[in-house]
Amino acid sequence: MNRIPQHVAIIMDGNGRWAKEKGQARLFGHATGVEAVREALTAASEVKVKYLTLYAFSTENWNRPKEEVDGLMDLLVKTISSELESLNNNDVRLLSIGNMAELPAACREELQLAIEKTKNNAGTVLILALNYSSKSEIKTAIKQIAQRYKNGEITLDQITDDLVSNHLYTAGIPDPELMIRTSGEIRISNFLLWQLAYSELHFTSKFWPDFKKEDFYQAIYEYQQRERRFGKVSEQVQP
Ligand code: FPP
Repeated sequence: MNRIPQHVAIIMDGNGRWAKEKGQARLFGHATGVEAVREALTAASEVKVKYLTLYAFSTENWNRPKEEVDGLMDLLVKTISSELESLNNNDVRLLSIGNMAELPAACREELQLAIEKTKNNAGTVLILALNYSSKSEIKTAIKQIAQRYKNGEITLDQITDDLVSNHLYTAGIPDPELMIRTSGEIRISNFLLWQLAYSELHFTSKFWPDFKKEDFYQAIYEYQQRERRFGKVSEQVQP
């Protein structure tokens, strides 16, 4: 239980391939993926991971067939609504990152309601990345910082790592120490590019619907075996 990461981020991948293997529609894979969300969240709460960020919908996902996009939005609305009581019973606080303004109204409203109703919970913070793109997050931050510079509110010297971090959707949230991606794909896919600069990366070939609490613990265990040097040499970081 020592060296538990404060923040774990997950790219939940492989729902479609999992469903295809079973001769089922892709949406069945997403619906079963909700079970895996529950597994990951329960595991994170049990070992007191403070922040769990899940990549639920990227800006690029709008390009999928309309039926799948509509189905995913519907699933999100229904899941957020049906899980609200359980989030509160387990002291979980919900937050979101991404461009919420472009989400369908029903999804945005359900999300805002759940964020409001869980805001006083003090356990694990579940952060849903929805309509999220890291490049556009960074671009927005650059525009805001440039505007502040132009207004004379800040000098060039004041543009530090912390200042940039504070203009991202994740302002105030520590960077993930660990990022997990399922389904065997080994890439970042426009997810938390700034925040993952020094994260340990864990890739598993399991498809997301098959992800269990044990897989989450396995990833944490492997993280605990890694030496995080942040550019230094081994002797400098040994306790
Ligand atoms: C990636 O698999 C998964 C998604 C794009 C959606 C993830 C959504 C859920 C697990 C359900 C709802 C979640 C919450 C938080 C309530 P893919 O479709 O890219 O799979 P593939 O690569 O095999 O096609």
